[in-house]
Amino acid sequence: MSDLIELGTTLLPKVRREANVELRKARIKDVEQIYQLIKYWAERGLMLVRSHNHLYENLRDFFVLEDEDGHIVGSGALHILWHDIAEVRGLAIHPERQGQGLGRWIALAAEREAKDLGIPQIFAWTLQVRFFTSLGYHVTTREALPPKVYAECSACPFYDNCREIGVTKILSPEEAYKRPTAGF
Ligand SMILES: CC(C)(COP(=O)(O)OP(=O)(O)OC[C@H]1O[C@@H](n2cnc3c(N)ncnc32)[C@H](O)[C@@H]1OP(=O)(O)O)[C@@H](O)C(=O)NCCC(=O)NCCS
Repeated sequence: MSDLIELGTTLLPKVRREANVELRKARIKDVEQIYQLIKYWAERGLMLVRSHNHLYENLRDFFVLEDEDGHIVGSGALHILWHDIAEVRGLAIHPERQGQGLGRWIALAAEREAKDLGIPQIFAWTLQVRFFTSLGYHVTTREALPPKVYAECSACPFYDNCREIGVTKILSPEEAYKRPTAGF
C-alpha cells in the first residue's frame, strides 16, 4: 500500500494506515457495496437512497474507504453543480466503523478535491450538523445558497417534508457565491 493518494495536484495521506483502511477513488466494482451502505442509512432516515443508475452515472464523484478484506467501509462524493459551488453527498460510514475519524477524512478528501478544482464553496444537505460544523462548515439559510443546489429537490420523496439542513464551507471568499442584491 502506498502512503499517499493523489487527488489532481494534491497528495493526501491514506486513512489510518494502522487500521488498514485505504482511501481511494471509487471503481465500478464498488457500486454494489456503496449502494448497500447508503441504503442502510437511508432506511434509517439519515440519507437519501441512491439508485444503481445514479451511482454508475456519478461514480467518478465518489471516494471510498476499503478495508483489508476488500469491504467498502465508507463512501463520500463531491458533485460539481456550478462554477462556484459543489455538493458533498453520499457520505456514509459503515455502522461498525463510526467515530474512528473515517467520515472526517473522506469529507476532507472531497474538500481537497474541490480546492484543487478551483471551486470556491462546498455545501451539504444533512441531519448531521455537528459533524459538519466540526469540519469548519457553518449552517446556512436556504436563501443564501445558489438556486442550483435545489436541482434534485423536485424529485426527492421528502420534497414536502424536508428536514435537512444546509451547511456550507467557503474555500475562497472572493469567488464564493454571493446572493444578488435587489435594486437598480
Ligand atoms: C456522519 C458520519 C459520516 C460521520 O462519520 P464518522 O466516521 O462516524 O465521524 P468521525 O469519526 O470522522 O467524526 C468527526 C467529528 O464529527 C463528530 N461527529 C461524528 N458524527 C457525529 C454525529 N452524528 N453527531 C455529532 N458529531 C458527530 C465526531 O465527534 C468528530 O468530532 P471530534 O473530532 O471533535 O471528536 C457517519 O456517522 C455516518 O455515516 N452517519 C450515517 C449516515 C449519515 O448521516 N451521513 C451524512 C449524510 S450528509
